[in-house]
Amino acid sequence: MSTTGQGRVTGKRALITGAAGGLGVAMAWMLARQGAKVALTDVNLDGVQALASAINAELPGSAFAFAHDVTSEADWIAVVESAVAAMGGLSILVNNAGIGGELHYAESDTLENWHRVQAVNLDSVMLGCKHAMAHLRAAAPAAIINISSVAGLAAAPGMGAYNATKAAVWMYTKTVALEAAKQDWNVRCNSVHPVFIKTPILDPFVAMVGGDEATAHQKLARGIPMKRIGEPDDVAYCVLYLASDESKFVTGAEFKIDGGMLAQ
Ligand SMILES: NC(=O)c1ccc[n+]([C@@H]2O[C@H](COP(=O)([O-])OP(=O)(O)OC[C@H]3O[C@@H](n4cnc5c(N)ncnc54)[C@H](O)[C@@H]3O)[C@@H](O)[C@H]2O)c1
Repeated sequence: MSTTGQGRVTGKRALITGAAGGLGVAMAWMLARQGAKVALTDVNLDGVQALASAINAELPGSAFAFAHDVTSEADWIAVVESAVAAMGGLSILVNNAGIGGELHYAESDTLENWHRVQAVNLDSVMLGCKHAMAHLRAAAPAAIINISSVAGLAAAPGMGAYNATKAAVWMYTKTVALEAAKQDWNVRCNSVHPVFIKTPILDPFVAMVGGDEATAHQKLARGIPMKRIGEPDDVAYCVLYLASDESKFVTGAEFKIDGGMLAQ
């Protein structure tokens, strides 16, 4: 991870959901070390409080932690207001929180699993865009980054609920991007599509593939031309670019972080 503090997002104020998890932690460090203030939110309050403490020990006053269930509209309203008050505004929203849900073929899926995955992976993105937009407009140039997946662009058996939500996030991103662009808001909206990245969300796949973790990761990498799975920083560097003004002419676009998998 870069610790050079080049200030690529100095003065920006970012809200990252699911920030206690693997990718969220990497994004939080990346944006903070590059000069942003970060509001870290998660259902796991202890996790984001510990992360904020660690970031503040290195970069005093940079990080704030909030309890946040991204499926709750009331939580979104409260958390956005708290984050804006703590940071003095909001110029970056990273809709990162997500779950894999249960693996089911269509015939055995349950409506409960389907609705849960929709709520966490998709309702959250709509609610975040809805309730952050006025603040993002006020702080423009601003950016929304929605974490989809390669599973939003290519299907896999047993992953119907996850595939459907991540594909919807991909398309919803474009709608929001066009709405903002047509109204000259200078709020860009892009989606990021990682393949397997080393985080706890892979645990069910590791268990399914079997063997120790390193062996399981190698097996998961078989379909990836670069012959490895990703590191959280591989995604965080893309988020940094999209959050910064370096990407000022980029909106409605999708970024695959997949070692070449979908190029095949
Ligand atoms: N790791 C991968 O291989 C991979 C690949 C493609 C896409 N993604 C996507 O990246 C994002 C982050 O995943 P990760 O790998 O860091 O997973 P993770 O399981 O390590 O972290 C996810 C975080 O989201 C939080 N969360 C879950 N439900 C929540 C809710 N209702 N409200 C608020 N927070 C909630 C969890 O507490 C956790 O901290 C997800 O959207 C995931 O679908 C991950």
